[in-house]
Amino acid sequence: MSEIKNIPVHVSIIMDGNGRWAAERGKERVAGHFEGVESVRASVKASVEAGVKYLSLFAFSEENWNRPEAEVMTLMELMLRSMENEIDTFVEQGIRFVVLGNRARLSDKLNAMIDNSMQRTQDGQTLTVIVFLSYSGKWDILQAATRLAKQCAQDPSKLESITPETFSSLLVTADFPDPDLIIRTSGESRLSNYLLWQGAYSEFYFTPVLWPDFRRDEYFKALESYSKRDRRYGKVK
Ligand code: FPP
Repeated sequence: MSEIKNIPVHVSIIMDGNGRWAAERGKERVAGHFEGVESVRASVKASVEAGVKYLSLFAFSEENWNRPEAEVMTLMELMLRSMENEIDTFVEQGIRFVVLGNRARLSDKLNAMIDNSMQRTQDGQTLTVIVFLSYSGKWDILQAATRLAKQCAQDPSKLESITPETFSSLLVTADFPDPDLIIRTSGESRLSNYLLWQGAYSEFYFTPVLWPDFRRDEYFKALESYSKRDRRYGKVK
């Protein structure tokens, strides 16, 4: 299906609307998260099909820790189980798996599973799947600024050479390109403390479709929309 020209290198998704999807069906919120995992699988598959090289997913924000404990636990369990279920397929298909965020807040068990999954898939070349877990844009900028301040305290000459590139290299996303396209589902049109620095020149695609209903066709609609954009990065043609 990839007659679409101009495929983005990095697609990033704010997966939203799981709770509303469940409520519409008289189910508990977690039912929406379970169904949302199927949309994650569909997006990974569609990314490979389209030739997207990086797919990143905002799975759990720093703010999400304030949700009811039972929901937080279910989400963490779901991450763990998804890794258990999918990593063999990722290895087979050459998909690299990466988790970025404030890992100090995650359980030892989850961190061990993440380390193992990242290590097993580290040579994957087909697609890199980045899951943002316990992540927020302000947290990332602050941890980078703190590291930079420490470096400058040790070596004041570093103050003279701070550039956007050197700052980017301190963010947790240092090894990856900025997102070309940021998709948000469920009709909300905001960034919610996501990739504040990295999204400076991203194209946005907002859709009313709830995340559990966002499957292959919806993903390709977003790519289609992106392919028609004229990115000027503040310049004139
Ligand atoms: C937003 O919907 C969704 C989340 C906070 C969680 C997303 C997580 C998954 C789909 C689980 C698995 C992820 C991976 C990477 C395996 P919401 O709960 O905010 O929905 P609402 O706005 O309708 O309440």
